[in-house]
Amino acid sequence: MDVILTKVIRVDPLNPDLNKIKVCCEAAHRGAIFVFPTETVYGLGAYAFDEEAVKRIFIAKGRPIDNPLIVHIANARQLEEVVDEIPETLNKLLRSVWPSPLTVILRKRPSVPRVVTAGLETVAVRMPAHPVALKLIECVGPVAAPSANISGRPSPTTSHHVLIDMYGRVDIILDAGDTFFGVESTIVDLTSTPPKLLRPGPIPVEKLREILGTEIEVPPVARGLCESGRALAPGMKYRHYAPQTKLIVAECQNYQRIDLCAEQLAEIIGRQYVDKGMKVVVIASKETKHIYESRGIKTLVIGSRNNLYEIAKNLFTVLREVDRLGVDLAVAEGFEEYGIGLAIMNRLRKASGYNIIRI
Ligand code: TXA
Ligand code: MG
Repeated sequence: MDVILTKVIRVDPLNPDLNKIKVCCEAAHRGAIFVFPTETVYGLGAYAFDEEAVKRIFIAKGRPIDNPLIVHIANARQLEEVVDEIPETLNKLLRSVWPSPLTVILRKRPSVPRVVTAGLETVAVRMPAHPVALKLIECVGPVAAPSANISGRPSPTTSHHVLIDMYGRVDIILDAGDTFFGVESTIVDLTSTPPKLLRPGPIPVEKLREILGTEIEVPPVARGLCESGRALAPGMKYRHYAPQTKLIVAECQNYQRIDLCAEQLAEIIGRQYVDKGMKVVVIASKETKHIYESRGIKTLVIGSRNNLYEIAKNLFTVLREVDRLGVDLAVAEGFEEYGIGLAIMNRLRKASGYNIIRI
């Protein structure tokens, strides 16, 4: 890949300078690809109807061409540009929940380029709840964008992650500091009955059931328990979020007694790895850190178990940090699969390549 001259533009996340947005918008209309902040993770975008620009996204990320992109919109008019007619009740509902970290799969309009949807008849759509993203998309038009990481790496949640992965690969980086949630949007397929959760995210499935007023199917892939073959969400079949370092997820049968699980895990790690000369780090919570350290096992603290949003926000930074420690093995504690905990466990299990132990 040729090195591209990247322009980095710093922008205030909450009160963006519209002149800076305009620079990016005009470049997008000339075929530029750009990194922009959303409330979940940074995206790598192009004007969705510019096929050549969209193809450049796949090259910049090293993304397989059969993995479709999400189309980001900023208003109801843009929704009409990308999806086939939808019932008025659904339209109303989407207007009431958006902007938010919720992506829905709907039938696409024929005019949406095949490269965006990887040839599928459906399109993933979302309206991000981030002032910079909204202003930008309002100006550009519908924006096709995956997460702005190199394929396989954890999604970027800080400007540091973005610069490391994308500098020299894209035309513009809009740097607005840290994203808000730290894990990607919840994806629900509304073309199946009942609707199916394809990827858990910041909007919990419990909340989604309430919003949609229906049952929602949660297949094992959505929990990160297995790969889907050829797929509704083809993204699920690739290794994701993965550090180079070998990673194991240690799931506890009863998170009310996480202290007991941590004691047992520390004992296992000591006996099976540390005593054999391996360097190990445990991705631990504030509450359990001392248990490992008292046995001389190094830890990386991911946050407090009392605040799963904090854990989600730190998750990808921690997964990236693991590789810098030069350890032979990382062991991540599991979390309860409730609320955003489901998204955390989906990412952790996938990052480990399904290397799971249950305690
Ligand atoms: O929070 C997010 O969703 C971020 C920000 C940038 O918006 N985007 C993001 O995009 O995570 P990406 O490409 O990394 O993940 C999108 C997932 C992929 O697994 C893809 O396979 C799936 O959505 N997807 C896209 N279009 C689809 C479709 N028509 N049917 C099923 N799955 C689809
Ligand atoms: Mg991604």
